[in-house]
Amino acid sequence: MERRRFIELFWKGALGFLGLEAIATSYDLLRPRISEGFGAAIPAGPESALEDGAVKYVADGRFYLSKVDDEVLALYQKCTHLGCRVPFCEPSGRFECPCHGSVFNRKGEYLAGPAPRGMDRFPVTTKNGEIVVDTGSIDLGPSRSVRTLDEEAKGPSCLEQIGEQVEH
Ligand code: FES
Repeated sequence: MERRRFIELFWKGALGFLGLEAIATSYDLLRPRISEGFGAAIPAGPESALEDGAVKYVADGRFYLSKVDDEVLALYQKCTHLGCRVPFCEPSGRFECPCHGSVFNRKGEYLAGPAPRGMDRFPVTTKNGEIVVDTGSIDLGPSRSVRTLDEEAKGPSCLEQIGEQVEH
């Protein structure tokens, strides 16, 4: 192939690719945002109703509200290891993943197991005293080494209880 012909084909290909990229980007920007349910801004009740230390599951948004030292966090239920739903274990006061045993404290900080980081979270705002959680935007959880909440387990781990039931 002639050099000139090759360059001409190269530029046509590059321009075609750029055109497709522009169309894809425009579609992404212009498509309607989800306005309800997971992926949207979810009203999660009055902040005054959430006591300090409380953990409340919000099924519509697939997150837990956790209030620690008057800070409200919205922790994504999806485990940062392989995506299982991480339940909150009331007896231990920790999030414990039943799939491979990752454990997180009430701030979603990593404590144990194969998870690569703490629990991911969603931005939280308060409008007229109502908590609103934007599930359309996920912030990655803190690295494994972050530990700002230093508390012992309240009681027995739910994972241990599951293990004992399986053995018997
Ligand atoms: Fe949670 Fe593996 S998916 S520890």
